[in-house]
Amino acid sequence: ASQFFTAPLLQGQRLLLTAGPTREAIDPVRYISNHSSGKMGFALATAAAAMGAEVTLVTGPVNLPTPAGVKRIDVESAEQMLAAVMANIAEQQIFIGCAAVADYRVANPAENKLKKTNDTMQLQLVKNPDILATVAAQTPRPFTVGFAAETHNLAQYALDKLHRKQLDMIAANDVSVAGQGFNADNNALKVFTKDGCHDLPATDKLNLAKQLLNLIVNYKSKP
Ligand code: CTP
Ligand code: CA
Repeated sequence: ASQFFTAPLLQGQRLLLTAGPTREAIDPVRYISNHSSGKMGFALATAAAAMGAEVTLVTGPVNLPTPAGVKRIDVESAEQMLAAVMANIAEQQIFIGCAAVADYRVANPAENKLKKTNDTMQLQLVKNPDILATVAAQTPRPFTVGFAAETHNLAQYALDKLHRKQLDMIAANDVSVAGQGFNADNNALKVFTKDGCHDLPATDKLNLAKQLLNLIVNYKSKP
């Protein structure tokens, strides 16, 4: 029967991914965040589930429906995202960090709503934990894939992140191109591994997600 039936590419694989922005509270009614829509991460979750994977999606606040068959965990801050990821990382074969994690959070969020008493105000920010690098530092660890959104020096910054965070693969997108990346429906990726670069030309995010997952499957099975 094997000549008539090929198992779905990600059958039996557990895949964990992060998506969307994070929100870092300033006070109970205000936050720092970014323009991530979550579309790329949700497209990856959709495609991976369709390819047979058992998918867990840890997401920041987004306006998107949960993809069919996907276990979704909603979080707000980077610290909550890290906790949700680490609580689910065991037994995963693949991790994809697609979230636009806020690099900094407010050092001391106010318990009560801040009042506009002064003409200027200062917020002290502290660096957030790096979720992707934390996953990559585990032993054993899943096949670990990062994203890099860059406006310039794309290849150089992406390769720097690949090496610095000890990733297996990094997918870089040029967010300076109109209609691509943040909030857009289309995207293009340059995918780097320690062995080279693979170009995925501009297409819709679901198509791109399938192509990236195919690259992951192929590269992961290489000796
Ligand atoms: N990332 C993460 N946790 C963070 C920051 C980033 O998991 N605190 C992940 C993102 O999900 C992405 C990758 O790291 O997969 C690269 O994110 P990016 O913002 O491009 O890189 P940074 O290391 O934050 O560097 P910079 O923003 O200075 O370019
Ligand atoms: Ca960043």
